[in-house]
Amino acid sequence: MPHGQTALATPVSLRTADAKPAVVDKAAPMTAQPMLEVIDAIHAYGDVVALDNVTVTAAPGEFLTILGESGSGKTTLLRLISGLEKPYKIGALRLNGVDVSHIPAYARNCTTVFQNYALFPHMSVGANVEYGLKVRGVSAGERQERARDALKLVRLADKYDRRIHQLSGGERQRVALARALVPRPAILLLDEPLGALDEKLRVDMQVELMEIHKRLGMTFVYITHSQEEALTMSDRIILMRKGRIEQADVPTAIFDRPVSRFVAGFMGVENLLDGELIALDGDRATVRVDDIDLEGRWSGKTLPSPGAMVTVGVRAERLHIADRRPMGADLNVLPGRMDSAIYKGKYLDRTVLTDIGPIKVRLWDSSSPSDEQGFVWWKKDDCMVMSI
Ligand SMILES: Nc1ncnc2c1ncn2[C@@H]1O[C@H](COP(=O)(O)OP(=O)(O)OP(=O)(O)O)[C@@H](O)[C@H]1O
Ligand SMILES: [Mg+2]
Repeated sequence: MPHGQTALATPVSLRTADAKPAVVDKAAPMTAQPMLEVIDAIHAYGDVVALDNVTVTAAPGEFLTILGESGSGKTTLLRLISGLEKPYKIGALRLNGVDVSHIPAYARNCTTVFQNYALFPHMSVGANVEYGLKVRGVSAGERQERARDALKLVRLADKYDRRIHQLSGGERQRVALARALVPRPAILLLDEPLGALDEKLRVDMQVELMEIHKRLGMTFVYITHSQEEALTMSDRIILMRKGRIEQADVPTAIFDRPVSRFVAGFMGVENLLDGELIALDGDRATVRVDDIDLEGRWSGKTLPSPGAMVTVGVRAERLHIADRRPMGADLNVLPGRMDSAIYKGKYLDRTVLTDIGPIKVRLWDSSSPSDEQGFVWWKKDDCMVMSI
């Protein structure tokens, strides 16, 4: 919620029957009945495989984000859940324990917010929000009350009679959100809802969406291709790649313990080096990159055997440079020549040329070693080792 705004009580008309306070213990195993279960979903358009055996579950009240690059199957997955697309093959599709695979879209207990709003431009804000209730046969009085509650929740209480074309992009997206909330779905599906908004508005709306999610206790399944948005908003992230799930985990694990080179690259790890696994002791991995041994923590998919090719990853902000060789058994150290530096305002991105290739270092103070020759070093605990 933007600063200076008082919290509204959750309007009774928007509470789902089984709404609960949306405090999800991110570390807790999912013991309760899942709100959503998609089991072994396969879907293809002609010979393009969009979903290749995907299984996804969401707990009640969870904020689950589907993250992935364009074409990875995110929208297809959402369309299967909502019923807008019939899967080629599916093991099971259950909402709150009920098999919905044969229930048409309009009768499923979930609604969708689309990137392009999908509003009726010729109708008023109020009529747009009430539409879903009207087709369900809700009386005019109740419709209006519930629509006004929903508009209050998205801070558009005063725009009830406006026409859609008289609204800004951000306001239109709020109307779309109110319209999706008003039937009191158990699950709200959001397909890149902030994609069309400018940066400032996106950030404001992220905060508002998180606030609404918390207040209503509803399960959100949220699509984005922005890793920053996913990290900010989610209880759990599912990272998709070419129709498959590459990693499903809490944001800190996706960020700090990527299972593969692909996940690390997608989550912005600047330095990725391939090498041969020499030893693995618990999660301590030694990797030979060219002729140099580096040590780090294994976070890959399955336990590999020595001799396997793996990837070493380290974030630029976890690296340091020094004039003299730093000492310490807990450090990886490489000699290198200081190369280009790019001034970024708050920090400096410097490249150090080492025997195993260029390494990108982020420096928060602009003091660099005076010599051209120096050392780049990082803690072994900050060194990720993962599947290639
Ligand atoms: N109606 C369709 N007909 C044919 N191919 C389709 C259709 N819809 C999607 N595809 C293909 O299926 C794959 C997955 O598409 P999908 O829309 O699910 O991806 P996405 O992850 O939502 O991508 P984006 O981030 O661009 O929205 C892509 O290769 C896409 O080209
Ligand atoms: Mg899409």
